[in-house]
Amino acid sequence: MIGAGHVGLPTAAALVSLGHRVCCAESDPERLRVLEEGGVPIFEEGLPEVIRQGWREGRLSFVGSAGSAVDDVDFTFLCVPTPERPDGSADLTYLEQAAVQIGPHLRSGSVVVNKSTVPIGSTRLVEQTIARQDITVVSNPEFLREGTAVQDSLRPDRIVVGADDQDAAARVGALFASTGAPLVVTDAATAETIKYVANTFLATKLSFINAVAGLCDAVGADVRDVILGLGYDRRIGFDFLRPGPGWGGSCFPKDTHALLHIAKEAGFDFPLLQSVIDTNEAQTRRIVSKLEQALRDHLRLEATEPVLPGRSVAVWGLTFKAGTDDLRESPALRVVSQILESGAEVRAFDPTLRPHQSVPALPVSLVREWGALGFPASRLERLTVASEATAATEGASALLVLTEWDEFRRVDLPALRAALAEPVLIDARNLLDPGAARAAGFRYVGVGRP
Ligand code: UGA
Repeated sequence: MIGAGHVGLPTAAALVSLGHRVCCAESDPERLRVLEEGGVPIFEEGLPEVIRQGWREGRLSFVGSAGSAVDDVDFTFLCVPTPERPDGSADLTYLEQAAVQIGPHLRSGSVVVNKSTVPIGSTRLVEQTIARQDITVVSNPEFLREGTAVQDSLRPDRIVVGADDQDAAARVGALFASTGAPLVVTDAATAETIKYVANTFLATKLSFINAVAGLCDAVGADVRDVILGLGYDRRIGFDFLRPGPGWGGSCFPKDTHALLHIAKEAGFDFPLLQSVIDTNEAQTRRIVSKLEQALRDHLRLEATEPVLPGRSVAVWGLTFKAGTDDLRESPALRVVSQILESGAEVRAFDPTLRPHQSVPALPVSLVREWGALGFPASRLERLTVASEATAATEGASALLVLTEWDEFRRVDLPALRAALAEPVLIDARNLLDPGAARAAGFRYVGVGRP
């Protein structure tokens, strides 16, 4: 396994669970140190247990150099990042580096399996970089989600393998045979396309339901019942229809941009996909408008009066979704950035983030992602991260729930009411019961529900 990150480690864990032996190469020395000491450098349910099992049974090992991981293996999985370039295209530097490093060390007759999400045609690029007749390169995109990655790898909906060499494709499929998942064997370009299309389709579903939630707000309908009415239609289903503050994470934003870029380069006009991205960006503004409107209504301010400057807003949830400590492309950070831009101060809490001991006391991962998103560092002066949910709410003018952590569902509403200066509650994940919140004295605003 080349790369022991969010894809490599869960894939390694799944292969170990399925009875295989795995050696992971990790180039980041700090990450490698954690792994060699028996730790797990990412937050992923079930991962520590499987990794410990692998260690105990001697079927899982970690090394620093890609070359030394591959010299006696039948399959080499490439699980390296393919980050977004400024023009939206995928940066293949890590993939090419990995191919260069492993090329001379691969065992004759072994198969290189690309799991990284790559532009259509990249399997060929790996093949050309390795440049060996005795090695086959196949595409095997991953569909696992952060937070449930181990389960997703052990119980996949399907396995997709793209290769010219059908025998190599069958051998890769056989590695996962005991999962019982259907196997789709195709050519490499089609497998690479499937990966992008799967993610962009899911993003489309989410932008669609977020827009429908906006429509429900406008016409006074309840999006939760709309989803019920839709979901029972088996052609539509219930999955991936929860409205929220927009979609984020390390995959959807990068992959929607990359596919748009790929389509453009190929001369194909794809306005639908552009609209999916635009709708997602509008969702951030919609959530901030809900906050401004609710506060304005509560304080009986004129529509023209600025409502956020000088106020303190509490935020619960900063990760891009629950079940992960990942802040990459988090919609919550986008919302927070806009609130800070409007002149308010934000006190945030997230169960996976702890304030840093030193000044400026913000978690390192947050400051890093803030920079990556291109938000001005000066805004961070008005952001604090609390170590407890209640501490973030003391004296705040409103609470905004941005990530669907379970513990937020169980909040003691009267205690929350007492802590906040104003009883304004914006539930951007529709986690709470509006009736109970209103009975506790809140001005409750959800997404697409009365
Ligand atoms: C996504 C895909 O779901 C995986 O199949 C894919 O393998 C992965 O990208 C990848 O390409 O590596 P992930 O990024 O972990 O997985 O996150 P998702 O669970 O898909 O959530 C993405 C975003 O959509 C999050 O911001 C989440 O909060 C949001 N979301 C999801 C909703 O707002 N509502 C929903 O109903 C579902």
